[in-house]
Amino acid sequence: MCNFIIHVVIFTLTLQLARATCPNIVSRHDWNASSPTSVENITSIPVPFVVIHHTYQPGFCRTHRACAAAMRNMQNYHQNTRNWPDIGYHFVIGGTGEIYEGRGWDVVGTHAPNYNSRSVGIAFIGDFREEVPTDEMLKAAKDIIKCGVERGSIASGYKLVGHSQVKNTLCPGASLLEEIKTWPHWDPLKQP
Ligand SMILES: *[C@@H]1O[C@H](CO)[C@@H](O)[C@H](O)[C@H]1NC(C)=O
Ligand SMILES: *[C@@H]1O[C@H](CO)[C@@H](O)[C@H](O)[C@H]1NC(C)=O
Ligand SMILES: [Zn+2]
Repeated sequence: MCNFIIHVVIFTLTLQLARATCPNIVSRHDWNASSPTSVENITSIPVPFVVIHHTYQPGFCRTHRACAAAMRNMQNYHQNTRNWPDIGYHFVIGGTGEIYEGRGWDVVGTHAPNYNSRSVGIAFIGDFREEVPTDEMLKAAKDIIKCGVERGSIASGYKLVGHSQVKNTLCPGASLLEEIKTWPHWDPLKQP
């Protein structure tokens, strides 16, 4: 009986993974990422939060080449100046609408204190205090969140928040925050 239940659970999980419709992701190899200095796996899967960021610096990038360079610059800054194990975010969206792999689905990020082990952090490359990301960028973020839910990495009842809702910061920029407030799952949580 117990075996039967386990088989059903495994079968269902397998189906879920197989069914996930995920967008193309620019792999770490493709943007020439350095190796992480250490890795901590997320233990409570699926995570209940998605936290949205803007990078502020580096600024908006228009080509694959420029966005890949922005990824390397951020990783270099996060590893060598901030002393984090790797680039802080799980996924990063460039001005081309491409999604860059940061830590990926399974690894704890460094992007939102108190939320790192229970959230996926998604950053938009650029300064979105006054402007919003392009439609392609917004669609990319929605697609990667949907993929995360379908593959079982993000809880189906997840809460979507801007970084400034969980920390005293201007990130993700006032315009981008107003934008995500219109998305399903945005939550008015405020924990300074
Ligand atoms: C990739 O990164 C390595 C080490 O950081 C560096 O030596 C190499 O020049 C980089 N290659 C490209 C194409 O950027
Ligand atoms: C993290 O997960 C990966 C793949 O799921 C595994 O190979 C690795 O050993 C795990 N690392 C730790 C520290 O548990
Ligand atoms: Zn942030």
